[in-house]
Amino acid sequence: MSNQIFFRPPPEIGVLGTGRMGVRLASMYAKAGRRVLLGSRDPARAGEIVHDLAIPGLSAGSYEEALEAEAVLPAVFIRDGLFELLDRYASRLDNKLLIDISNPFNEDYSDFITPWDTSGAEELQKRVPNAHVVGAFKNVFWAVFDDPLFVGTPSDVLVVGDNAPAKQQFFALSEDTPFRYLDAGALINARAIERMTMITGALGRSLGSYPRMNWRLLG
Ligand SMILES: NC(=O)c1ccc[n+]([C@@H]2O[C@H](COP(=O)([O-])OP(=O)(O)OC[C@H]3O[C@@H](n4cnc5c(N)ncnc54)[C@H](OP(=O)(O)O)[C@@H]3O)[C@@H](O)[C@H]2O)c1
Repeated sequence: MSNQIFFRPPPEIGVLGTGRMGVRLASMYAKAGRRVLLGSRDPARAGEIVHDLAIPGLSAGSYEEALEAEAVLPAVFIRDGLFELLDRYASRLDNKLLIDISNPFNEDYSDFITPWDTSGAEELQKRVPNAHVVGAFKNVFWAVFDDPLFVGTPSDVLVVGDNAPAKQQFFALSEDTPFRYLDAGALINARAIERMTMITGALGRSLGSYPRMNWRLLG
């Protein structure tokens, strides 16, 4: 019998949540060659999803296992308890990249549950002060990931954050994914991006393009 010890490196990205965004982002990053762990409150469900997707580099587990990753991406609504989730795991996020995709929508998407003078991104950073929050994908509706190019052209992901190395880490992790990433400045700019996403949602519904729509800055 061999005495070989097998070392499995930790995932590069740990996704929390197997909803519309979590599954698609985990798939996208794994297809781009990253090691991704899709975490769920129900690891068996994550296991079935990962089994069906059969993407090399994509594995399944619990939230705790996803938190082992170098970068953590919670794909959970604030209205469903994202803040409380981060409170529970705050110490596990010290010095890690926290990729924040949250928009603070209420149940019927008609308004935000946070006041005007803040953003989901800033509220997350307050709860996990030792993590490096980078806001991204807030403006990308879930259906875009299924068919990301618009007439052959990638659309934009607006990226915000106050920690330059964390932003660079995010850009490096996102290489070979089918979007154009724009550095949209400081974390406070998430206020504008999240509100613009709410308007895009309303416009998309009235124009009949919801939920496959995104922005591309022209010029
Ligand atoms: N939908 C979009 O187009 C879109 C676009 C941009 C940003 N976002 C943001 O992405 C995040 C996730 O959105 P989504 O559309 O992917 O949401 P979703 O389809 O409702 O999935 C959310 C996931 O959160 C997990 N979760 C943990 N605690 C929960 C609870 N108490 N109740 C319900 N679910 C709970 C669940 O995964 P497990 O059961 O596996 O743990 C669930 O599948 C939100 O912050 C949203 O603002 C969404």
